[in-house]
Amino acid sequence: MEQIEKKNIKELYTAEVIAARIRELGAQIYQDYGDRELVLVGVLKGSFLFIADLARAIPSTEVRIEFLGLASYGDETKSSGVVQITADLTKPVEGKHVLVVEDIVDTGLTMDYLMDNLRTRHPASVKLCALLHKPSRQKKHVPIDYLGFTIPDLFVVGYGLDFAQRYRNLPFIGVLE
Ligand code: IMP
Repeated sequence: MEQIEKKNIKELYTAEVIAARIRELGAQIYQDYGDRELVLVGVLKGSFLFIADLARAIPSTEVRIEFLGLASYGDETKSSGVVQITADLTKPVEGKHVLVVEDIVDTGLTMDYLMDNLRTRHPASVKLCALLHKPSRQKKHVPIDYLGFTIPDLFVVGYGLDFAQRYRNLPFIGVLE
């Protein structure tokens, strides 16, 4: 990771710390849902690593995996709240327990839109699991049922999170300086 340090990325959460927190979230989710059918909906692209690890931390045979692609109009570091679904679920979620898996809730505009959209599809329940939350930038209050870490107002990359599509593959979460 020497090369990465040279690019001014300061480690905020190591791969080990992330893994430990995800094990706790998985246990908590299993405690709540048990062996009921649960549809995990990963929001692309940022949640691709998080959903992969979270799914493996839920010791149930009744977990289904779906993905949703969202495009939010704005510049590279800010979302505008205008959200478009670029790839939709492959199956209806009517009557199902749905858990949205998101990398970060910043202003809350994206998740506010998505949670409302999913509710119109009449699932049995719809909850949100976010790895990170930046409460200082909140514009819409979106309840986060399962949360990894609360962070200050910093732009973070790695573990799925990008800046201009780069850094998603870093195994840790760092701050772009
Ligand atoms: P919101 O609508 O402002 O809550 O924005 C959520 C989306 O903005 C996330 O899914 C990310 O794609 C992106 N985002 C917000 N903050 C960061 C960050 O610090 N690093 C990388 N992406 C971010």
